Amino acid sequence: MTAPFVAANWKMHLTVAEAVGLAKGMRDGLAALTGATRVVCPPFTALAAVAAAFEGSGVGVGAQNMHPEASGAFTGEVSGAMVRDLCAYVIVGHSERRQLFGETDDFINRKVHAALGLGLTPIFCLGETLEQREAGRAAAVCREQLRRGLDGLDPDAVARVAVAYEPVWAIGTGRAATPDIAQEAMGGLRRELGELADAAADSMPLLYGGSVNPDNIASFVAEADIDGALVGGASLRADQFVAIAAAVAQAGAAS
Ligand code: PGA
Repeated sequence: MTAPFVAANWKMHLTVAEAVGLAKGMRDGLAALTGATRVVCPPFTALAAVAAAFEGSGVGVGAQNMHPEASGAFTGEVSGAMVRDLCAYVIVGHSERRQLFGETDDFINRKVHAALGLGLTPIFCLGETLEQREAGRAAAVCREQLRRGLDGLDPDAVARVAVAYEPVWAIGTGRAATPDIAQEAMGGLRRELGELADAAADSMPLLYGGSVNPDNIASFVAEADIDGALVGGASLRADQFVAIAAAVAQAGAAS
């Protein structure tokens, strides 16, 4: 049993007007793809407007980050409750947060707990760097990030997480992983999740991320443990993201 799932990560792009324009451009195409969970993650500033643009379409909206604390003196930060006001999903543990903003496994784990406690669905990202892969440590690094990121959750809570495998060397580089490499990593993650979530691991959505485009998506979702994708660059084009989402929904229907 798979759970087709596709998410757009718009990163630090688009003003409110631009984001609404893009949302409207993909709304009808995404609305038709009822066989897959479809989520769009705009910047915080555009969350409310994009949520309004997708209202009634069946397309979910998510934030790209949140702070683990409920409230307090954290200038510039946004809490899970603030996110929950506007949307139902949140990306946590993205490699850009880990690398550029120094987020640790422990800090990410706190976010996962806070998000689940609020009823948000975390899209929890992990993945190795090129250096780690070349040192033969990819599987161990991913396992460690998974274990530490989901530490302390009971099996029911683990089962409510969407896990995205995003090898750092494939993000924004135009150099996607091969489907074989992604399947090997994600098969390993599914086995680990089996220990954390029991039988529910089989129906948890596992997403591949890193230079996904309309031409390569079908080869990823044809793999046994790849249920969908987290899409950066190509999600900034309505036609491309709808085409990717269609391929994800089609693969889910075929399995
Ligand atoms: P990309 O980004 O599709 O541009 O490689 C993916 C991501 O960072 O989630």
